[in-house]
Amino acid sequence: MTLEWSAELEIGIPVIDSQHQRIVEYINKVELAHQHHSQEELLLVLDELVDYTLSHFAFEETLMEEAGYPFIKAHKKVHALFTRRIAGYQQRAKSGEDVTEELTHTLKAWLVNHIKHDDRDYSGIVKENMNAATKRAKAKKGSWMSRLFG
Ligand SMILES: [Fe+2]
Ligand SMILES: [Fe+2]
Repeated sequence: MTLEWSAELEIGIPVIDSQHQRIVEYINKVELAHQHHSQEELLLVLDELVDYTLSHFAFEETLMEEAGYPFIKAHKKVHALFTRRIAGYQQRAKSGEDVTEELTHTLKAWLVNHIKHDDRDYSGIVKENMNAATKRAKAKKGSWMSRLFG
């Protein structure tokens, strides 16, 4: 069954929410490839999913670091463990094993749980930090503008 995106999965940071939405789309694509009985398509989507997820993790980790999120170490560990897990599935799929059911089940359960708990946990401090950075940038621009045109 496809995983439906819902407001329940939003953490309130638009850039992160859209990345999570994209990961959900990839997971659904994995299932679709399985329904098409195409191993080639499956491996391709898996590659895309892994690439995208890795860059999402790196992005999140940068935001957490910049915000001084106190549990970043634990969060990074969870990302690393998950990365290793998908790599394992990818390896098995490459050697011809049919891992789709197990894989999509794991992906869905893990993602939903991770977003709802771990990602939501950093959302407050990261959002605050992002807002402060935007304000600083605006203030800087303001002073530059006022110096130039004032
Ligand atoms: Fe995330
Ligand atoms: Fe995360």
